[in-house]
Amino acid sequence: MSDIITMVAPVNIAVIKYWGKRNEELILPLNDSVSATLDTNVMCAKTSVCVSPNFLEDEIWLNGVKESFSNERMQNCLREIKVRATVEKSVDDVFLSWKIHVCSENNFPTAAGLASSAAGYACLVSALAKVYKIKSDVSSIARLGSGSACRSVYGGFVRWHSGVKIDGSDSIAVQIADKSHWPEMHALILVVGDTKKKISSTKGMRISTKTSDLFQYRIQNCVPKRTEDICEAILAKDFVKFGEITMKDSNQFHAICLDSYPPITYMNDISNKIIELIHKYNNFHGEIKVAYTFDAGPNACLYLLQNEVPKILPLIQHIFPSSNPDTFVTGLPTHCEMINT
Ligand code: PMV
Repeated sequence: MSDIITMVAPVNIAVIKYWGKRNEELILPLNDSVSATLDTNVMCAKTSVCVSPNFLEDEIWLNGVKESFSNERMQNCLREIKVRATVEKSVDDVFLSWKIHVCSENNFPTAAGLASSAAGYACLVSALAKVYKIKSDVSSIARLGSGSACRSVYGGFVRWHSGVKIDGSDSIAVQIADKSHWPEMHALILVVGDTKKKISSTKGMRISTKTSDLFQYRIQNCVPKRTEDICEAILAKDFVKFGEITMKDSNQFHAICLDSYPPITYMNDISNKIIELIHKYNNFHGEIKVAYTFDAGPNACLYLLQNEVPKILPLIQHIFPSSNPDTFVTGLPTHCEMINT
């Protein structure tokens, strides 16, 4: 039996959203996206992997529930890891033939638009890479599990290049700047609802790509410039520019969801109240102090500088006196890490 390898992987929240695939099987996106990776202390996936000649089947437990390993995306990740191990000759053929057991859990709501699959697949693939002693970069393998997972393999700020090649070899995630570049940058996660989203991102992307007129406009006319501009803003630590682009891109992504037919709604009334609050707060201060972004769910991720956290947090708790939304404050981390259990 191999040692049990346990890894933790962080969530990443996009500021330029990936929405739409040019190849569904290889999970190749139609547009570049940019994200910040959040600190594993607050939100992370934790995955343990063990290989043994005594295991009869590949098996996986997700948040304590046994699930089928026949899931195509998991199979793809495992297959590619084994191909890589064969090419790198990192383990012998006998070891490669043994079955694996995987145990994975998130410390935050799963499939509620909080990038749980990104952290989950980044973690699974990083843990498998350790078990099979793979030396090369595995971000492109994480992408086969969930597109956005390729960004969670790195810390700090990350850009996923859509690439143009048919085989996807140029569709890679690249770190723009590591965590130490902008230590004041923080994220405040507001958990509005922990129920699973009604329409998965895969299905939502399919509907938007086929039916939304706004979709093509966004890809051609908005994302390329926004991506360059936000990368510049990150490198220059220009929060005002960063915040404006982040909010505009989130709004446009949800506008595309509404422009899809049938329309897709991920945000709810509380999400909209959060948007209103942030605009009022920024107006009051005469400049952008806090930026919101929403993925495929009602939960908000607020990006803000550290000195702003003690100012906005009591306000949120005052306006939403119940625990809805629940709040988590986090900084930005370095990368997936191996932990001792
Ligand atoms: O990686 P997926 O298939 O879960 O899609 C992620 C889509 C968004 O979270 C809405 C945007 C993004 O870039 O993370």
